[in-house]
Amino acid sequence: MAARAELIGDVGENAPDRWEAPFGTDDVHIALSALASDAAQLGKELERARVAFEDTPGVQVIWQQDVHQLPTGRTTFGFRDGISHPNIEGVGLPGSNPRETPIKAGEFILGYPDETGSLPPMPSPDVLGRNGTYAAVRKIHTNVAARRQYLRANTSSAEEEALLAAKMVGRWPSGAPLTLTPEHDDPELAADPHRVNNFLYRENDDRGYRCPAGAHIRRTNPRDATIIGDARMHRLIRRGTTYGPPLPEGVLDDDGADRGLIGVFIGAHLERQFEFIKAEWVNDGNFIGYPGEKDPVAGHHGGTGTVTIPEKPVRRRLQNLPSFVVTRGGEYCFVPGLRALRWLAELED
Ligand code: HEM
Repeated sequence: MAARAELIGDVGENAPDRWEAPFGTDDVHIALSALASDAAQLGKELERARVAFEDTPGVQVIWQQDVHQLPTGRTTFGFRDGISHPNIEGVGLPGSNPRETPIKAGEFILGYPDETGSLPPMPSPDVLGRNGTYAAVRKIHTNVAARRQYLRANTSSAEEEALLAAKMVGRWPSGAPLTLTPEHDDPELAADPHRVNNFLYRENDDRGYRCPAGAHIRRTNPRDATIIGDARMHRLIRRGTTYGPPLPEGVLDDDGADRGLIGVFIGAHLERQFEFIKAEWVNDGNFIGYPGEKDPVAGHHGGTGTVTIPEKPVRRRLQNLPSFVVTRGGEYCFVPGLRALRWLAELED
């Protein structure tokens, strides 16, 4: 990923020479994630992993990141994540958005036809590549205090502040989408898996009066909105979680703690999926007619960003947006399928 940093906008304070070691070095060979429902179980899983590799010559742990879900179940910015996922053909599970026509499995899993009808290139031999995929792993620091200060300084009431925060994301903190509930949060709607992601943009909100075209979720998945190109060619499976302590509710001053998210962006075509979204949709505003604007949540603004909120009778344009996120590191990984893992294990014997 370090070699592609400029393309995806990792420059300045986000550049690889500022990354946390060992990100961006030649030393990273394997990434392993261990997930468990509580700390005791996690300890057991990590011990299993340690026993498995301790006798393997040349393998040592060079970095470890503790992650957790916050008690609120939300990201460090206070918004629920992990709601919208692509509807994948053949997986046998309903998509999160019933209005999304299923997307070819080959967009996400190697060895199957993709949306163009071709087979994405994969590692060989076949047993290694098939059923695998690629993942862009990122450590992203979030500047929660800077975001709270910006929202406070640019609004004149708690209601306005909450609305501006939601306009930047495209959802309310509960996850309820602005497209379906533009004036206020609706936790009941958010808790309903059949409704929380059941919307398109063109029908009710083409001009972005509810969810601005520049909002994070509308940029990263414009669905059927009027854009140049086809959003279906740029879909991602996302997995992620938070690290670091939450900044207590209402605190506006930075306490210096490192907090943020580990984001994992998965797909068979990272170039036209993760990299395209990052370079064209997050870091550029051409596709929505605001050339100088970047994603208000995930963009790198450096204090000079702008964001346009369509309103009647006149739109609102906010200036001097600072960066609310900093890239601390990232790697592109091949994710083998289960058969490939077994094959690799047998090779060793
Ligand atoms: C930088 C920190 C980031 C934060 C705090 C963040 C937070 C969020 C939140 C709260 C949502 C709404 C939940 C949902 O719809 O599932 C979301 C959705 C999404 N984000 Fe991010 N995100 C970040 C970075 C990124 C990046 C770098 C990308 C891609 C390059 C990305 C891609 C997406 C996508 C594709 C969606 C779903 C949009 C949809 O289908 O409607 N995010 N993100």
